[in-house]
Amino acid sequence: MIECTNSSRGGRSIFLETFGCQMNELDSELIRGQLAALGYHFIDDRAAADVVLFNTCSVREQAENKVLSRVGQLGMEKDQEREVIVGLVGCLAEREGERLITRFPQIDLLCGPGELDRLPQLLENAFKGAAVEQADRIALQGNRSRRSAALSAAQDNLEALDLSRAFDPDRTSTAGRSAYVRITRGCNKFCTYCVVPNTRGAEVHRPPDAIVDECMRLADEGVIEVTLLGQTVNHYCYTHGTAVSSDGRELAQVGPGLAAFRSAASNGARVTTFADLLHRIHESVPAIRRLRFVTSYPRDFSDEALGVMRDCPRICRYLHVPAQSGSNEVLARMNRGYSVEQYEAFIERARSTVPGIEIAGDIIVGFPGETEDDFDATCDLLRRVRFKNNFVFRYSPRPGTVAIKRLEDDVPEDRKRARLNSLLALQADIGREVHAAYEGRTVEILVERHSPHAQSQADNGIEVRWQQSMTQLSGRTDGDLICVFDAPADAAEHLLGEIVTVHVEGSGPLILKGRLLQDSAIPMGKWQSGGFQMR
Ligand code: 5AD
Ligand code: SF4
Repeated sequence: MIECTNSSRGGRSIFLETFGCQMNELDSELIRGQLAALGYHFIDDRAAADVVLFNTCSVREQAENKVLSRVGQLGMEKDQEREVIVGLVGCLAEREGERLITRFPQIDLLCGPGELDRLPQLLENAFKGAAVEQADRIALQGNRSRRSAALSAAQDNLEALDLSRAFDPDRTSTAGRSAYVRITRGCNKFCTYCVVPNTRGAEVHRPPDAIVDECMRLADEGVIEVTLLGQTVNHYCYTHGTAVSSDGRELAQVGPGLAAFRSAASNGARVTTFADLLHRIHESVPAIRRLRFVTSYPRDFSDEALGVMRDCPRICRYLHVPAQSGSNEVLARMNRGYSVEQYEAFIERARSTVPGIEIAGDIIVGFPGETEDDFDATCDLLRRVRFKNNFVFRYSPRPGTVAIKRLEDDVPEDRKRARLNSLLALQADIGREVHAAYEGRTVEILVERHSPHAQSQADNGIEVRWQQSMTQLSGRTDGDLICVFDAPADAAEHLLGEIVTVHVEGSGPLILKGRLLQDSAIPMGKWQSGGFQMR
């Protein structure tokens, strides 16, 4: 996603481009707030910027290649005397470290995701050029121990960065009505294919008061949808009284693992579990009309948390809970820590506790040793679980992971590609049925944007008839189904960021097509001028 805004303020200009996940999107928001407060302004023209920052992702090779080709281009521009500071922030910077500068001398600074508070200083140093040593233009957790690095970063500076966030409604989707709030950082799972535990460090849990305060501040600024972020978000658990500052403030704490939390609870320590946190946000910030969370881990999801989802109407009935594979042998090699049977038992429990809940997942195809039988087992899992959608990835060996060291990447690329395509086709069939089941129903959607789907709808078998005075908008149900609907062009801006009611009249593998029902969000005049009877 390209970050762009034009500011009339002076100072140096920055072009910031974000790759990868929602964590990165939030980090970019924090970077923007932090640097804007120091007088930098952000522009959408890479060629005109004084500084080009890439917030990088290292999870899959493709995302890395994209960044590196941008860096290559900037190298050529610098060779032709362009004066520009080039900085790499995020997981690729952390993973590759100084080697990147050796390979691409056009890079002026590197900043890992655990060191974002140091970015302003790195930038200042970069502007001083050769007068400043390379080491002072690099901030990485690097060789500090995982645990101590995570702890010190989280307790001191990173926590401050989250708390000081300058929310900029113009820069978010949903007309400033949607925001991310981090509840944990890092990951302790060490799935064998994944770089995240190395690049983002040990799992750290933010104090609940800080999280609730942040939600309240966002609600005061008009946010109505909050998505709580964590790599394994349901592992959130905070033991009170163990990490406290000298002035009595609770600090972020390194997650010692659920067993330790359970024993802390049984020893009488006060603990805020994920279920408690969800309930507390729901009760104390009613202005947040939609509370979501990603990404869930299929193990350790408590009945209490599911019960809170069922009982709290503003918590969305949606889980993104990656299965990764439908074969127990592959899951074991991935070190996922659950079996297919356990995964399905969890989905069963979720569906019986929270009626109507929608499930999305991630699947990796072509993991080392994946046979045709393993792949068939994954197809069967999709047929049984009936996900609303699945993000499907071809396995790519990542430096620093256990898999690259110990497991031969033995599934040929063309086989991986064939499996990916066949799984996507299967998921499309399932998605079509999941979405078709909504036809004839009335759903509430939060309107996010002008529809990017209009063009692709023919592919989805959805008839689109445009009228001059109409535009198409897109939003999501609380179960995270994308829904498009036509609205009067002159009412569109008014509808963005609102929750409206639509009657579902068509569907495709990935979207619903609705008819907007008369809603208080539209002033009567607009309603009539648009002539809402579209068909
Ligand atoms: N290769 C392919 N996909 C990967 N993912 C993570 N690491 C890899 C890798 N090395 C996928 C997983 C994860 C999602 C964010 O990215 O499915 O859930
Ligand atoms: Fe990576 Fe596994 Fe952690 Fe997810 S749970 S971030 S896949 S190590």
